[in-house]
Amino acid sequence: MSQSLKATMILDKSYQIAPVDERIYGSFVEHLGRAVYGGIYEPGHPEADEQGFRKDVINLVKQLQVPIVRYPGGNMVSAYNWEDGVGPKEERPRRLELAWRTIETNQVGTNEFVDWAKKVDAEVMMAVNLGTRGIDAARNIIEYTNHPKGTYWSELRRSHGYDQPHNIKTWCLGNEMDGPWQVGQKTAQEYGKIAKEAGKAMKLVDPTIELVACGSSNTDMPTFPEYEATTLDIAYEEVDFISLHQYYGNRTNDPANYLAKNLDMDHFIKTVTATCDYIKAKHRSKKTINLSFDEWNVWYHSNEADKQIEPWSVAPPQLEDVYNFEDALLVGSMLITFLQHADRVKMACMAQLVNVIAPIMTENGGRSWKQTIYYPYLHTSIYGRGVALKPILSSPKYDSKDFTDVPYVDSAAVFNEEEEEVSIFIVNKHLQESIDLSVDLRSFEGFQLQEHVVLEHENLKAVNTSAEESVKPHSHGASEFQDGYLTARLSKTSWNVIRLKKS
Ligand code: AHR
Repeated sequence: MSQSLKATMILDKSYQIAPVDERIYGSFVEHLGRAVYGGIYEPGHPEADEQGFRKDVINLVKQLQVPIVRYPGGNMVSAYNWEDGVGPKEERPRRLELAWRTIETNQVGTNEFVDWAKKVDAEVMMAVNLGTRGIDAARNIIEYTNHPKGTYWSELRRSHGYDQPHNIKTWCLGNEMDGPWQVGQKTAQEYGKIAKEAGKAMKLVDPTIELVACGSSNTDMPTFPEYEATTLDIAYEEVDFISLHQYYGNRTNDPANYLAKNLDMDHFIKTVTATCDYIKAKHRSKKTINLSFDEWNVWYHSNEADKQIEPWSVAPPQLEDVYNFEDALLVGSMLITFLQHADRVKMACMAQLVNVIAPIMTENGGRSWKQTIYYPYLHTSIYGRGVALKPILSSPKYDSKDFTDVPYVDSAAVFNEEEEEVSIFIVNKHLQESIDLSVDLRSFEGFQLQEHVVLEHENLKAVNTSAEESVKPHSHGASEFQDGYLTARLSKTSWNVIRLKKS
């Protein structure tokens, strides 16, 4: 009889990485497909509120406790005139939206989105257009949103019914400006210069804001990581964060290799951190640039369907990935990776939030439901607040097509000192076997086991639909806690959340 696989871990209160910035549980709503129209906003829907926002969607977003939502793009922002989306709705222009080749009706714009964000208890992370526009539009929008009163743009906001400034604190300087698909693509030199000058003007209007400069669109870009280095070399003192974007897919149906892809994300984070610190050293600067992983997720299921979409339609079903169980496992591992880098990844946005590569789906005029990836996002967001601990983990390993020495067990832990709670997030990537994990928790004296939540399914390809939620968590994980040691059986291919609390 074969011996069961074993892993061990030590968690100690004093082995800390850093406080978790809750903004790593952020998300993203772009004017793309049915994210806005038919997603968050659908006047006439039975669940619509007085502004046309779907209350069923608000409720699902609130459960996730999303602290910050990026808006309005994405690629869309690079040819967007923000002025089109403010003022009386009946006067707003219909425009060709060039990034996704649709019609933008502008029935939702900055003010409505700020209202919606308040309804879901989130802050807004606003992006400015540095594709077709530049310093002038950037300084005007921040005067419109953040200046109290008495000037042209602030009075225009007030005339639109918003007496008080929105005080939006986080701003993205364009989007994926290295990409040939981007309207107004820029070399790093060109981008660094405009990011510096637009950022300078924006901080003159409101010095309390934080600015995110674009990094590379993904690690496969030919100019990665030189794009980051050049941009930061030019704009180091004006910006506060550099952005990272990455999407993964299982195109060759190789689950072992697919589930290892967070190792690529780990390498990406380490490379960008090193690049930031090189420029810091070069400038003899005291300031540290942190990482905003403001687009991340699985994205590939919808690629073929998207080729069939009729151009210039209003809110077509674009990028509507239907996520399966293995996607939820990788999403769990990506969230674990952020927690392992809590010292430098201070913001992250799951891209996106509703309908478009999203944890929440809706039918126009109909139901809303949770995709498989909703659950690891939910669990880390609600339990992963506190200080990220440094797990000393020893796990059996495997090799896959693109990776060697992949630990079967991925884990991160968060200690919430105030609530006297510790939450351990674990993925078992083994496709056939359960793994017995033993965790040394002796520094957590007086703590008791609260629950062991598990997301598992026999079929890696199982999905949730509007009619049936077949992938959902249960609380019957097999764990015991005795004399400071936790023993847990991690089922094959499972996402686990083990929570302990001082009694
Ligand atoms: O999230 C979908 C798209 O992916 C975004 O618009 C763009 O920034 C990225 O390429």
